Amino acid sequence: MAILHLSPSSLISTITHSQRRRIRASRDSVKIRKDLITTESVSSLSLCPCGRRHLLGSMISMPFLPISSSYASGSSASISMNDLKRLRPPKPDWYEELFAWCMNTGMESYEAEISDYKMKLFENLVGKAEKVLEIGIGTGPNFKYYSTIPNVSVLGVDPNAKMESYARRSAVEAGLKSQDFTFIHALGESIPLEDASVDAVVGTLVLCSVTDVTRTLNEIKRILRPGGIYIFIEHVAAEDGTVLRLVQNVLDPLQQVVADGCHLTRHTGDYISEARFNGGADINKVSLPSLAYISSHVYGVAYN
Ligand SMILES: C[S@@+](CC[C@H](N)C(=O)[O-])C[C@H]1O[C@@H](n2cnc3c(N)ncnc32)[C@H](O)[C@@H]1O
Repeated sequence: MAILHLSPSSLISTITHSQRRRIRASRDSVKIRKDLITTESVSSLSLCPCGRRHLLGSMISMPFLPISSSYASGSSASISMNDLKRLRPPKPDWYEELFAWCMNTGMESYEAEISDYKMKLFENLVGKAEKVLEIGIGTGPNFKYYSTIPNVSVLGVDPNAKMESYARRSAVEAGLKSQDFTFIHALGESIPLEDASVDAVVGTLVLCSVTDVTRTLNEIKRILRPGGIYIFIEHVAAEDGTVLRLVQNVLDPLQQVVADGCHLTRHTGDYISEARFNGGADINKVSLPSLAYISSHVYGVAYN
């Protein structure tokens, strides 16, 4: 198992031999940005601290990645590499594996509780979105909703490579063809896709975990085509002055340690509103008491 480190070399090395065919199949519909695949990033591979097969993986994968000349500058490559390391320092393999396993086994009751909201939100995609990017796709609990969307192809961005096998399984179980799902080992803050390249972005329980919420929202706006939509469901800080908020304040530092950077006290609805999507945002609040200290949620649609 590879140790997680978020250099472009690791992004490339996660694209293994068996994935090349999937990438080739999807390259007509999705352009992966050149700034993560430059000569500079290749030359840095030999310095990779884990010393595993990243250079070989990159050399094998590179010819199959669609490259756009507009992203050919070496300086963007070094910005991406530094950003990735700074924004999400490497975590041990065992931690990422354990977190992925917990998400896969421990979210059943949450998913049951939130299911009606998700169903309504995903209806917004039917007939309007075929290329969809999900940020922080995790183990893929949303695939059952994608399967109702005709001709959908899903790109899932996640920095935890251990999520991929779970997400792939969820996609298959939901009836998606394997070529209709591409896992991208990357951050929401630095999405390796062209501007205006997707019809919709989906995010569920992810803005609590990203390091830079504003930057992630700017990336969402950048990759959405004009008229594209962003649908979201996020747990958020409870109202100021409530007992629940006090509990969240106390538990927040621990939550960040045990739940891979998840914050309990984020005002995510305010961030989405302040991101000023071109067509505005419809942001709803709901409290789901059975969800205990993550009971306060926002959900809705933002229009690019
Ligand atoms: C609480 S889990 C939610 C997963 C999934 N969206 C769901 O609804 O179950 C948060 C996910 O966000 C991912 N994540 C953490 N930091 C991220 C970042 N900076 N950009 C994108 N995803 C991130 C984690 O690896 C994890 O898969």
